[in-house]
Amino acid sequence: MIVAIDGPAGSGKSTIAKILAERLGALYIDTGAMYRALTYKVLASGIDLQDKEKIYEIARNTKLDFVKKGSTYHILLDGKDVNEEIRKPEVSTKVFYVADYPKIRGIMVFLQRKLSTNESVVIEGRDTTTVVFPEAKHKFFLDAEFSERVRRRQSDLLNKGIKISWEELSQSLAERDRKDKTRPVGALKQAPGAIYIDTTKLSIEEVVNKLLEIINKKDV
Ligand code: DC
Repeated sequence: MIVAIDGPAGSGKSTIAKILAERLGALYIDTGAMYRALTYKVLASGIDLQDKEKIYEIARNTKLDFVKKGSTYHILLDGKDVNEEIRKPEVSTKVFYVADYPKIRGIMVFLQRKLSTNESVVIEGRDTTTVVFPEAKHKFFLDAEFSERVRRRQSDLLNKGIKISWEELSQSLAERDRKDKTRPVGALKQAPGAIYIDTTKLSIEEVVNKLLEIINKKDV
């Protein structure tokens, strides 16, 4: 079984996908973490972020896996757990260099499909319903109002002890939305057949239950 979930930053898709995977006994694939891990490797190698051919070479020689640690999944970059490192601001601001490059996306899509060959998965990102698994039986597009997405980001960061102003967060989220929507390949959009869910006024549990209800109905 493949459940594919797309949506903008702050739509709640990672949180929801993680819980859904747990409930369905499926593997959780965080495609954003894959783009982040590759960006981390490129930054650590010190090569020029404009050098697309070198980045492509690095991508071709990179191994990405997910392992379950407690109730969360960690990403392994060439066997090393980089779960913490990939969330750092320098990775967040540079990831678009890697994610905007169509040949790199091709490798990532290949890896994502490979990870999904032998088991049930819940996969989330920006293009999982449009490019990676357009034929998936269960496709969702999660969304939320812009101000709610900023609020969620702010509270996530505060929980980690990071204080960033509303203005700064709004600007960076608007910029990420723009980049996600205008990417020439793998741009964020609602796929045909994907069910749109506005999570603005819903709790996490309510969204999870809604998705489970739809999945169970379709599976009958
Ligand atoms: O969901 P996230 O913030 O961890 O994603 C990190 C970046 O990777 C984000 O800038 C968008 C990009 N991304 C992408 O282009 N395609 C995906 N399937 C997932 C993420």
